[in-house]
Amino acid sequence: MGHWGPFSLHEKGAAVTGGAMGIGRGIAERLAEAGAGVLIADMNAEAASTTADEITAKGGGRAVALQLDCTDTCAGDEIVAACTKEFGSIDILVNNAGIYPQVPMLQMGEDLWDKVQAVNLKGLAFISKAVAAKMVEQGKGGKIINIASIDGIHPSMVGLAAYDASKGGVIMFTKNFALELAPHGICVNAVAPGGIATPGTAAPLEGSGMTEEEMAEMMKGFLAQIPLGRMGEPDDIAKVVAFLASSAADYMTGETVVVDGGYLLG
Ligand code: NAI
Repeated sequence: MGHWGPFSLHEKGAAVTGGAMGIGRGIAERLAEAGAGVLIADMNAEAASTTADEITAKGGGRAVALQLDCTDTCAGDEIVAACTKEFGSIDILVNNAGIYPQVPMLQMGEDLWDKVQAVNLKGLAFISKAVAAKMVEQGKGGKIINIASIDGIHPSMVGLAAYDASKGGVIMFTKNFALELAPHGICVNAVAPGGIATPGTAAPLEGSGMTEEEMAEMMKGFLAQIPLGRMGEPDDIAKVVAFLASSAADYMTGETVVVDGGYLLG
């Protein structure tokens, strides 16, 4: 792993929530390639264990799957226990699990609103709390990276009011928790992706009320607004997360890095 220089994650223990597929899988692959042991914490047990096996087979750091729901009260403690058992410590947490149902606010029910906040914001906060407590106890700093969204900065489309509120919350949580954890040498940063092609974005947007043609038209319009002229790939986000997880980013905390092909420039 020597060739990774200040970007090496050799001998680090890392956990990635929602790491079974999409952006989370891309992140797990890069962290392992940089030498970390990676815990893939996901509610989809089958996909998580397939991803873990494929990553381990590639070489670099080992990957292990853990089935959990990020909204469970004990999720953070389970992540800490599994990561320290498998890799000796937890040095990196990537809060990636998230949902983005597209439902206009005028049709939004309280249950769906609460679910979006529970997965995207409350789960992220309490998993961070449990992991940070362990990092403080370990006494060697750490990195927490939260996957926010450009929608936490600027709304991209109708139907994402609950989502945008949750991701705006992630960005402010990142800043305040960074302040709280700085004396312990724990850096907390966020990445705000633009449009990334993943299983989640490929699935028909549940409850949106749009036909396939309307959806295709909307995607065409979205693509036309990306200065770099393409949708992002999970690895576009993963490489930036690997940087933030490494010693190369030791003097960054409370920051939100936008990775959107220039979308927000428009
Ligand atoms: P995805 O839907 O393709 O994959 C999400 C993964 O998270 C799945 O493996 C799923 O099983 C897991 N997951 C969902 N809820 C969970 C829970 N409660 N507990 C444990 N695991 C859970 O999602 P995608 O597109 O890869 O998005 C990942 C993150 O990136 C999300 O936070 C999303 O909001 C954010 N994001 C995605 C963008 C995109 O265009 N794909 C744009 C901006 C942000």
